[in-house]
Amino acid sequence: MVLEAIRYTPGPPSQLQILDQLKLPHTEVYDDIYSSSDAWRAIKEMRTRGAPAIAIVAALGLAVELNKMELSDSAPEAEIFIKQRLDYLVTSRPTAVNLADAARKLRKIVEKAAAAQGATGDSLRQAYTKASEKMLVDDVSDNKAIGQYGAEWILKNRATSAGETVSVITHCNTGSLATAGYGTALGVIRSLHARKSLKHAFCTETRPYNQGSRLTAFELVHDQIPATLITDSMAAALLRIKSSSESISAIVVGADRVAANGDTANKIGTYSLAIIAKYHGIKFLVAAPRTTIDLETKSGEQIIIEERPGREVTLVKGPRHDGVSLDLNVVETVSIAASGIGIWNPAFDVTPAELIDGIITEVGVVEKDSNGVFHLDKIFDGLDVE
Ligand code: MRU
Repeated sequence: MVLEAIRYTPGPPSQLQILDQLKLPHTEVYDDIYSSSDAWRAIKEMRTRGAPAIAIVAALGLAVELNKMELSDSAPEAEIFIKQRLDYLVTSRPTAVNLADAARKLRKIVEKAAAAQGATGDSLRQAYTKASEKMLVDDVSDNKAIGQYGAEWILKNRATSAGETVSVITHCNTGSLATAGYGTALGVIRSLHARKSLKHAFCTETRPYNQGSRLTAFELVHDQIPATLITDSMAAALLRIKSSSESISAIVVGADRVAANGDTANKIGTYSLAIIAKYHGIKFLVAAPRTTIDLETKSGEQIIIEERPGREVTLVKGPRHDGVSLDLNVVETVSIAASGIGIWNPAFDVTPAELIDGIITEVGVVEKDSNGVFHLDKIFDGLDVE
């Protein structure tokens, strides 16, 4: 089976399906997305998640809606409609910038199409659809490039005692399920494995939503990559292990938004991993496409951190297990906290740039200069980043 978070068939009639990630790892169910409202709900409920996947599902959700609509001949009317739907889609989740970035680019494309001689609703639809379909294709090739650059960097910078192969820790899910395919940080692990340079991958459980134990573990098992699941609180102890067979060369994570100075918002728990990496002298890397880099946001302090409902911390949902086997027909929700306790559930945290050794992008690995400053604007040279 190919791991696909997003299934899209170009039209007309175009079709979009998302793998319901709330049901993974035990049940693989695809949900139809017929409209931007369907896409908004799927993102909000986290049936689809991961910064690049969110952006692509939103963009294609609207493409599918436009594809089946009777659009008026009036280009300005179509332009207003598309822009309103894009504004609405951006409200689904606030932290990952990829969605806002995709919406900004799509708005520009629609504006350009509307200004063209003889523009109609249909010409806007075509321009929009072409651009959103390209996002799906580009994301996979960008991820493969990130994988290559990241693997090369880790191998080049590993401790001499590490030997030929390296072990890494990753957090959350940044793989095929979080993107159009292959993944970012998990793409680096895939690339190390493909070159036979990976000794072992460790994935954190990633409480409270368990993207690590449910999704990353699922992908690692699927690809038969040698891997072990740890709870978030075990990472420091793992780094303390000095035996060369288990020593860790790097922690590599994804990102939801990288500010201009390199401060990085990513899944809650990333910041603690960066601190323990620094303490243990382990390289800490962020893997992200340029669509995740937000030069408008000067530092991490300006990043809005989404807070999710407390029930994601207190309740755990899954198929019934009687101690011996799973019963996939019975899904149970159990409470794992004392009722009445207050809950704080930020979905992301910000890791300061000073704790990050490199930002792996599809155009190379950005490192800090001798003053400890990232120059992320350089990797946009020649590209439109207004
Ligand atoms: O809340 P999620 O599951 O959408 O959070 C996902 C992450 O934090 C990922 O690390 C990030 O989006 C990068 S995915 C390539």
